[in-house]
Amino acid sequence: MQQHKLQGQRNLHLHLDTFKMFCGGKKSYFVATVCIITLTSMVAFSYLRLQRIDHLPKIIQEGRRCRGEITNNTITPLKDKRTFIISPYFDDRESKVTRVIGIVHHEDVKELYCWFCCQPHGQIYVSKAKIDVHSDRFGFPYGAADIVCLEPEICDPTHVSIHQSPHGNIDQLPRFEIKNRKAETFSVDFTVCISAMFGNYNNVLQFIQSMEMYKILGAQKVVVYKNSCSELMEKVLKFYMEEGTVEIIPWPINSYLKVSSKWHFSMDAKDIGYYGQITALNDCIYRNMRRSKFVVLNDADEIILPLKHPDWKTMMSSLQEQNPGTGIFLFENHIFPETISTPVFNVSSWNTVPGVNILQHVHREPDRKEVINPKKMIIDPRRVIQTSVHSVLRAYGTSVNVPMDVALIYHCRMPHQENLPRDSLIRDTTLWKYNSSLITNVNKVLQQTVL
Ligand SMILES: *[C@@H]1O[C@H](CO)[C@@H](O)[C@H](O)[C@H]1NC(C)=O
Ligand SMILES: *[C@@H]1O[C@H](CO)[C@@H](O)[C@H](O)[C@H]1NC(C)=O
Ligand SMILES: *[C@@H]1O[C@H](CO)[C@@H](O)[C@H](O)[C@H]1NC(C)=O
Repeated sequence: MQQHKLQGQRNLHLHLDTFKMFCGGKKSYFVATVCIITLTSMVAFSYLRLQRIDHLPKIIQEGRRCRGEITNNTITPLKDKRTFIISPYFDDRESKVTRVIGIVHHEDVKELYCWFCCQPHGQIYVSKAKIDVHSDRFGFPYGAADIVCLEPEICDPTHVSIHQSPHGNIDQLPRFEIKNRKAETFSVDFTVCISAMFGNYNNVLQFIQSMEMYKILGAQKVVVYKNSCSELMEKVLKFYMEEGTVEIIPWPINSYLKVSSKWHFSMDAKDIGYYGQITALNDCIYRNMRRSKFVVLNDADEIILPLKHPDWKTMMSSLQEQNPGTGIFLFENHIFPETISTPVFNVSSWNTVPGVNILQHVHREPDRKEVINPKKMIIDPRRVIQTSVHSVLRAYGTSVNVPMDVALIYHCRMPHQENLPRDSLIRDTTLWKYNSSLITNVNKVLQQTVL
């Protein structure tokens, strides 16, 4: 490294000498301008070169074994108590890097280093990380961050440790597996990411109905970032895990940070917004990048309902055909208030199960002039670099708004426009198309879990 830096400086001096030869002589405005531009670009270029060299992996120790303990926790605090590691992912879409999804204090965390161990000879490489705090922090001091390190060229490390310093003893640092290292063939078409289950969640009936709707529409996998839920809900989750549909990612974020239940700092001044939802979403995208064709980002009370197609697969083929080069599809959210009931499908055995029966809520709130309906997304994860909740922040390719006549988000919850009389709402029975398979499937699950 020292050598690289010296070489860089020597080059700069050489350039400067050349510069003096041409620019030191007789003056004219034209020559002066050209000289200034040249000098500026030379300095900028050399600066960028030094910057890059600064981030190159450097060998610091040879012939050691890689011995740090492997951590399997979803959230691991570093010694600084300001950095939390979720998981490292291999990413070679631009260059060969390890991208670590984490949570950092946006001001306090200035320097981080990736420690790689190259087998079989045990050289230890240290790379200075680029810390990229996501722009959608919404005023909170902590936010999602990409901690990105160039990997050594000579090996494909399987594990990495993260440290505030390029010095120290690697044996003392926790090691994290670098996921997505191996190429995989897609095992599923659609994975749904439920980014935060919290507050002793007990909306059992609605959760089971959503799960069965996702399956009817084409999801083979649902990833739940679970903070807390009721005992009854645990039973339901266990059923779906054994079925192979649900993967639970423990999300004990409140053990480390004060979490807000609101999305903006001004509404609830805590450490991080909305249970760390944004970090969970980003982790979910990378976790499923290699195994799922599409990732669906919505909450458990939301269902993307196709209006022209029987399921997501046919809908997405058609949308992709119409929008080549797009990997991000945005769907409009519509509120179906749980306060307005139409008791057509009142299944008596469901009355003892806690939670909302969505089949009874088929009236949606009308659009408001001054409000843009929020969006949720179906994405091709390989085209996304960073995501927020209602849009992506950085991606390869464009985003497209899916029109209302193709699909909408059925969102059954408390009303936004609570004073509207029933006949100002729009009756929309799209969900009822699925009534018979939905009722059959929900009954099967209830019989094996709750009833
Ligand atoms: C983490 O998992 C790996 C492999 O599954 C195992 O070898 C290791 O002991 C686990 N570490 C801890 C701290 O449980
Ligand atoms: C559904 O039926 C039960 C009795 O079977 C009744 O108590 C309940 O009020 C009904 N729910 C609605 C929303 O009509
Ligand atoms: C319920 O589903 C069945 C079979 O798909 C259908 O024939 C029926 O019209 C649906 N009921 C309502 C009220 O939409």
